[in-house]
Amino acid sequence: MFLEFVVWFLLLLWRSSSVFASSEQEYVGFTYNGFRGVNLSLDGLTQITDNGLLMLSNETNQQVGHAFYPDPLHFLGNSSSTGNNSPLSFSTTIVFAFCGIRFFGPAIAFVISSSKEFPGALPGNYLGLFNTTNIGKQSNHVIAIEMDCLQNAEFNDINGNHVGIDINDLKSVVSEPASYFSDAENRYVNLSLTGGQPLQLWVDYNGTEKLLNVTLAPLNVPKPTIPLLSLEIDFSLILMKDHPLFVGFSTATYTMPTSHYILGWSFKLNGKARELTLSQLPKLPNHKSHKARTRLFSVVFSVIGATLVFISILIIQFIVKRKKKFAEVLEDWELEYGHHRFKYKDLYIATKGFVDKELLGTGGFGRVYRGVLPKTKTEVAVKRVSHNSRQGEREFISEIISIGKLRHRNIVRLLGYCRRKGELLLVYDFMPNGSLDKFLFDRTTTTTKTMLNWCQRFQIIKSVAAALLYLHEEWEQVVVHRDVKSSNVLLDKELNGRLGDFGLARLYDHGTDPQTTHVVGTLGYLAPELCETGKAKPSVDVFAFGAFLLEVACGRRPIESEEASEECMVLVDWVISCWSEGKILDTVDPKLGLNYEVEEMELVLKLGLICSHNIPTARPRMRQVIRYLEGEVPLPELQSFVPSGGSSDVSVCCSYAMTRSSSIAESVLSGGR
Ligand SMILES: *[C@@H]1O[C@H](CO)[C@@H](O)[C@H](O)[C@H]1NC(C)=O
Ligand SMILES: *[C@@H]1O[C@H](CO)[C@@H](O)[C@H](O)[C@H]1NC(C)=O
Ligand SMILES: *[C@@H]1O[C@H](CO)[C@@H](O)[C@H](O)[C@H]1NC(C)=O
Repeated sequence: MFLEFVVWFLLLLWRSSSVFASSEQEYVGFTYNGFRGVNLSLDGLTQITDNGLLMLSNETNQQVGHAFYPDPLHFLGNSSSTGNNSPLSFSTTIVFAFCGIRFFGPAIAFVISSSKEFPGALPGNYLGLFNTTNIGKQSNHVIAIEMDCLQNAEFNDINGNHVGIDINDLKSVVSEPASYFSDAENRYVNLSLTGGQPLQLWVDYNGTEKLLNVTLAPLNVPKPTIPLLSLEIDFSLILMKDHPLFVGFSTATYTMPTSHYILGWSFKLNGKARELTLSQLPKLPNHKSHKARTRLFSVVFSVIGATLVFISILIIQFIVKRKKKFAEVLEDWELEYGHHRFKYKDLYIATKGFVDKELLGTGGFGRVYRGVLPKTKTEVAVKRVSHNSRQGEREFISEIISIGKLRHRNIVRLLGYCRRKGELLLVYDFMPNGSLDKFLFDRTTTTTKTMLNWCQRFQIIKSVAAALLYLHEEWEQVVVHRDVKSSNVLLDKELNGRLGDFGLARLYDHGTDPQTTHVVGTLGYLAPELCETGKAKPSVDVFAFGAFLLEVACGRRPIESEEASEECMVLVDWVISCWSEGKILDTVDPKLGLNYEVEEMELVLKLGLICSHNIPTARPRMRQVIRYLEGEVPLPELQSFVPSGGSSDVSVCCSYAMTRSSSIAESVLSGGR
C-alpha cells in the first residue's frame, strides 16, 4: 500500500513535472517595453542603447546585425509532450522604426529560424539571412517577415516600401505595399516605412488553421481587424521538426547610413501576445538622420544667421548713416537758444533733402532753399552757410539770436538756426518773390511781367530806408547791417521790399574760407573808411544804401566790368559825370523808358550820390534820408561833391579789404559793445 502510494506519488511527480515542463514551454511569453537590461543574443551591428532601444544597425554601411531571443522555443509540437504533430500557435507584436536617409532602403526582418547564427550571410539586400549559395534552399528553415525599403528586382520586390513574407528565400511569397486597413475610415491607408515614425507590426500564426497574418499600423492606431498579409502555411513543412526554433530580428545596411530600431517586442506562444505599453517605450533619438538634420539645421541656421547679420549690418549702416546725416552740433551755451534752434532733420525734410528743385538761389555765403516745415507747415527759406571756423561762432550765434528778435515789416524775419559741423543753417521767412537784384539785373527772368515799375521801385527804396532806420535808431541796440545791396533785399508777395541776410558778413569775417567772390560782388558798396578804420558804423550802411539807390534807379550794378577792356565801370563816378554835365537823367534804367516821376528819380539819384560821399560825416543819417524821400525836406544842392575816389582807389581798397578781411569790422552790433 505504502509502496503503491510511493509509486503513484513518484509517477505523479514525474508526470506533473513533465506537464509542467511542457506547459512552461508551451506558454512561453515575454514583453519588452524597451530593452534595457534584457538578455538577447546580439551580433553584428546590433546593440542595446543606453535608453533601452534595440538598435539593429548603426550608421555603418554594408553590415549585418541580428538580435534573437536567447532561448530556443519548441512550438513545432514537441511529440514527446503533446503527442501530435500540429505546431503551436504564436503571436507577436513589434514596434520598430527606421531612421535615416530615405534614398537607399534599409530592411529588417522578423525571423523564425532553426538557428540564430547565419554564417556567411550577406549584408544589403540579402538581409543578413542568406548568401548567394544558400538562398532559396529548403535547408535554410527560415521564415521571415521583411519590412523592405528597397525595390530589388532580383527578388521581384513590388516596390521600395513593402511588407512581405519570405520562406527560405528573399523572393516574398506574398507582399503588399506598406499600409493598413483603417477600421475607422473603412479603407486602406498607405504608410511609409522610412517616415521616421515608429510603426507597430503584429505577426499571428494559428497552428490549427495554419494561417499566418501580418498586420501593420501606426502607433496611435489599434490593431486593424483586417491583416495586411494573410498566408495559409504549414510551419511544420518548413521548419525543422523536433528541433528548437529561435525568434528574433535580422537586418542589413546598404551604402547609406541608416539606423533601425526596435522599441518594444512582445511574444507569446499559444496565446495572444501582451499589448505593449506604448507610453513606456524608449524614445527614439531625435534623429530622422541626426546628421542630415543637424547638417540641414546648420545650413538653415547659418543662412538665417548670415541673413540676419547682413540685415543688421544694413540697419546699423542705415542708422549710422542717418545719424551722421542728421547730426548737428549742440553745445551747452546754446541751450538758452533752445527755441531758436531747428532740428537738422526737420530742415532736411522741409527742403526735401535740399534738392536742387527747392533751390532759391546761390549767394556768396551759401545756397538758399525753399522749404515747408513739417510740423507747422509754414514756408521758410533755409540758407546753408558753410564755414570752417569755430572761432567767433558763439558770438555769431548770439548775434543771430539778437537779430531773431528784430521785428519790422521791412525786415526778413530770422526764425532760427541750426548748427552742424562746418555748416550753419539759417531759417528765414519765405519771400515768394526772391531778391530784388533778379528783377533789376537778371536778363533771363526780367520779362515785362516781372519788371518793376518806378512806383514799385520807389516803394522798395522807402521800405529799405525804413528798415535801416529801425536798425540804426529804433531798436534797443544799434545794428549795422553791413551788407546792404539789392541782392539782400527780398520781395514778399506784394513786392514789398524787405531787408534780409543779417550778420553773414561777420561770419565771413571770422571764416577762413578764401572764396571771396562775394567781396567783389559787394565791393561797390564798401565805404572807403571801412578799409582804413575797420569800424562798422551806421554811416557804412548809408554808403551802401547810396549805392543801392543808384542800382535801383539805373538798373546797373555799382561796379560793372566792361567786357572788352579790363576797366571797371564805377556807377557812382558815371552818375557824377553825367550830373556834372547836367544830364543826370541819362543814367536812368533804360528799361523804365519814360515811365517815371522825374522829381522822384532826380531825388533818388542825387540822394544816392550824397549817401555815397566818401567822408562819413558828410553822409546823412537814415532819419534824414527818409525825410528827403518823403519830401518833407528838400535835398541840399550838390556842389562841392567829392566822389568816392575813382576806380583805382576802389580796387586798392578792395585788395586791402581782402587782406584784412578778418578785421574789417568787429561786430554787426557795434552798439552792443
Ligand atoms: C557601429 O557598431 C560597430 C559595432 O558595434 C562599431 O564598431 C562601430 O564603430 C559603430 N559605428 C557607429 C557609427 O556608431
Ligand atoms: C498607396 O500606395 C500604392 C502603391 O504605392 C498606390 O498604388 C496607391 O495609389 C496608394 N494609395 C493612396 C491612397 O495613396
Ligand atoms: C487572420 O485574419 C483573418 C481575417 O483576415 C482572421 O479570420 C483570422 O482569425 C486571423 N488569424 C489570426 C491567427 O489572427
